[in-house]
Amino acid sequence: MKLLISTLIGLEDLTIQEIVEITNKKPGIQCPGLLVLDKVTKNQYYTIAYYSRSIINVTVLINNFEFETLDNIIENIRNFNFKEYLNDDFSVSCIRKGNHNFNSKPILDTTVKIISNKYNINVNYKNPSVIITINIFENKCFISVDLIGIQLNKRLYKVKTSRSDINSCLAFAALRFADYDTTKSLLDPFCGNSSIVIEAALYAKKIPNLYKKENLKIPKNIINKLDKEIENKTKLKIYGFDPIYFNIKRSRINAKVAEVYESIEYQNYDLDWLDTKFSQNELDIIISNLPIASQRNYKDTLALYSKFFHQANFVLNKKGCIIVISTKSDDFIGISENNNFKLVNCKKVYSGKLEYSLLKFTKIRV
Ligand SMILES: C[S@@+](CC[C@H](N)C(=O)[O-])C[C@H]1O[C@@H](n2cnc3c(N)ncnc32)[C@H](O)[C@@H]1O
Repeated sequence: MKLLISTLIGLEDLTIQEIVEITNKKPGIQCPGLLVLDKVTKNQYYTIAYYSRSIINVTVLINNFEFETLDNIIENIRNFNFKEYLNDDFSVSCIRKGNHNFNSKPILDTTVKIISNKYNINVNYKNPSVIITINIFENKCFISVDLIGIQLNKRLYKVKTSRSDINSCLAFAALRFADYDTTKSLLDPFCGNSSIVIEAALYAKKIPNLYKKENLKIPKNIINKLDKEIENKTKLKIYGFDPIYFNIKRSRINAKVAEVYESIEYQNYDLDWLDTKFSQNELDIIISNLPIASQRNYKDTLALYSKFFHQANFVLNKKGCIIVISTKSDDFIGISENNNFKLVNCKKVYSGKLEYSLLKFTKIRV
């Protein structure tokens, strides 16, 4: 079978790397955020769905074509034989990206009508046995079957959330961008609700993304096999700091739910404490999604960024790196150079309506 894998736009290369690690097979990029993996077994499909941390969705690709008008899409759906993919009931979802003179609604409504009439089967929006997924990107249409029915970028451990949380796939991407591995120490000094440090601990311990999720449509033998590979590492050097105690409290709750509480050291400190809590050159990686500078607090926030790089220069070792995750990247470049850091790599990632930059800095003089 062929799989259609969706990821955040900008994370395609990371998803390719992750899928190769899981299956030994390399997906190809079809268009931004959409990859196709050929000649896959059902076991590999379920393994990707259960384990992968960088993807939004993985579905079985059954038809793809290019179109000019809405009628072309409807015609193609009308003529396609869905029979072998249907079960007791179904639902339809549609994701559309690009400029079109139509929205998703007529596609959804017509597809539901066509399938229920042609195959005499009921639509079930609550708990369908299969979801027919229609992905439209500019003039390309991909029709696939979702046998899992879960958005994989929504993490179970995010019990405590806030509007400033980043998408966990983005947090995972930042870790891989920093070449994080279990031998390295990692600090997020503004950990918020902990997306970054929890993703680090889960990755380090090889805990599958859907670990302990109930009522999964994934065979038990695959779940058991992957759960057995979880590593019982508690002595990881992962530190989550935040100047606001409320955030530390919420982080601890999320980490408990994620079952990585013992692997992360949480502390309610601000930046001033970093050179006291860590010795010089102790850390390998700092990753953070710092507070954003607004017009009102612009000066103070830039002063905070300056302190961030200044303290990082003390606690990071000579091979160490910083990854800043931000929607306002320009604010960091000049300040980093004044504090002995240079920008060595930058990656744009699109999450929701936001354009994030992952900025990688290393020391200028070591
Ligand atoms: C964008 S949030 C980090 C969210 C985190 N990446 C997540 O996904 O949960 C930014 C952090 O900056 C901190 N913060 C906000 N305003 C601040 C200020 N004026 N001074 C210092 N820290 C501040 C908050 O404690 C919060 O943890």
